[in-house]
Amino acid sequence: MHDPTLSMENMEWRARAREVADKYVRPVAWKYDRLQEYPWEIQKRLKEAGLFRVFVPKEYGGDGAGVLNLCLVVEELARACGGIGVGFAVNALGSFPLIVGGTEEQKQKFLPAVASGDCLTAFGLSEKGAGSDAGGMKTRAERDGDGWVLNGEKKWNTNGLVANLNTIFAVTDPESKSRRLSAFTVECPHEGLRIAKIEDKMGIRAIPVVELALENLRLSNDSLIGGKPGLGFAHAMSTLDKARPGVAAQAIGCAQGALDFALLYCTKRVQFGEPIVSKQMVQQILADAAMQVEAARQLVHAAARHIDAGSPKANKFAAMAKCFATDTAMKVTTDCVQLFGGYGFMRDYPVEKFMRDAKITQIYEGTNQVQRMVIARNLIKEAHELDHLEGYMPIPEAQR
Ligand code: CAA
Repeated sequence: MHDPTLSMENMEWRARAREVADKYVRPVAWKYDRLQEYPWEIQKRLKEAGLFRVFVPKEYGGDGAGVLNLCLVVEELARACGGIGVGFAVNALGSFPLIVGGTEEQKQKFLPAVASGDCLTAFGLSEKGAGSDAGGMKTRAERDGDGWVLNGEKKWNTNGLVANLNTIFAVTDPESKSRRLSAFTVECPHEGLRIAKIEDKMGIRAIPVVELALENLRLSNDSLIGGKPGLGFAHAMSTLDKARPGVAAQAIGCAQGALDFALLYCTKRVQFGEPIVSKQMVQQILADAAMQVEAARQLVHAAARHIDAGSPKANKFAAMAKCFATDTAMKVTTDCVQLFGGYGFMRDYPVEKFMRDAKITQIYEGTNQVQRMVIARNLIKEAHELDHLEGYMPIPEAQR
């Protein structure tokens, strides 16, 4: 379907992802939700369709198609299954530290296999005591001859059970504030890296989220991303700027997926002698949901365009898109359950899964409270642009 807000290239990526989602993902989405097993049959289809190439630069075997095209792919996959949507998107999250900060050798070593779908990745930032306060992590990397030895733990490592490459962050300089962390490439399985727990989750159940134990994990100096210690926090933050629109796209996919089913249901469900879609109160819920999803989608696309253009507003837009789209998804998927009435609450019907899959999007890759903090910090930085308005208002007496 033609969309005048998108380029031909955008529509091609969307169509390619939609075909995989319709043919292969939706038919098995509820099976993997129940089984809580990694969907290898889908991984094979994503690989055959060349979808992993979307976020990898051309020089390293990808198509360098950028964050907007990545978002279009993620939305389509998540419209069929939120778990499989994030299972794909997390490969971008795990690869972005290399893309933004890796040395030429590191990029050449890993990215072609990421682009072909042969190397699955994960992102090891959070810890039990360091979620929103990512910089407060405790995992330690110490010099060991000309290499490093890592000890500690990682929490909420999405894809950790199946990843071939885990990007792990650790403290290399405990005395420093902004240069405290470094990031490492850890090829998996690896001696010293143990899956300590596989989480049993409310949603995104097709994709494994694990706790990792790092026990004298020895790495060569080649594993230090960027080749210099102290760059880890900056790499993590610029990675999250690029990856957050992907979470937002996952959320829109869940919302749109639920809305598709809700609209269809409302045209079929007869009460008081007519389909419930003829009731104004039902129409209002549907109309609000459609408006909110479209507004969120356009904000996500705007954020992706800022990122692809290297705009200084990328940080603010990524946070706004992530926060707005994921809050929208929670509201819309909950309203869709409401439209299904008692059936909506039952696992035989498709909408409750979208609601469960949507919930985590308000939490991971930075809670929506952190996003609002990031947005407000940007607004405060930009406030000087309003100085020319000062003459139009009296300064409060106490400040004169
Ligand atoms: N890009 C580059 N550098 C940045 C940056 C950005 N977007 N944001 C901050 N920095 C730099 C700052 O310039 C600063 O450097 P200097 O000291 O040299 O000036 C340094 O980083 C520290 O910045 P802050 O003082 O802003 O740091 P802070 O400690 O106040 O934290 C925060 C800021 C926004 C709260 C950040 O910690 C954050 O984003 N927290 C949430 C973490 C998160 O998203 N975790 C999710 C992990 S992934 C996941 O969910 C699991 C999964 O597998 C899906």
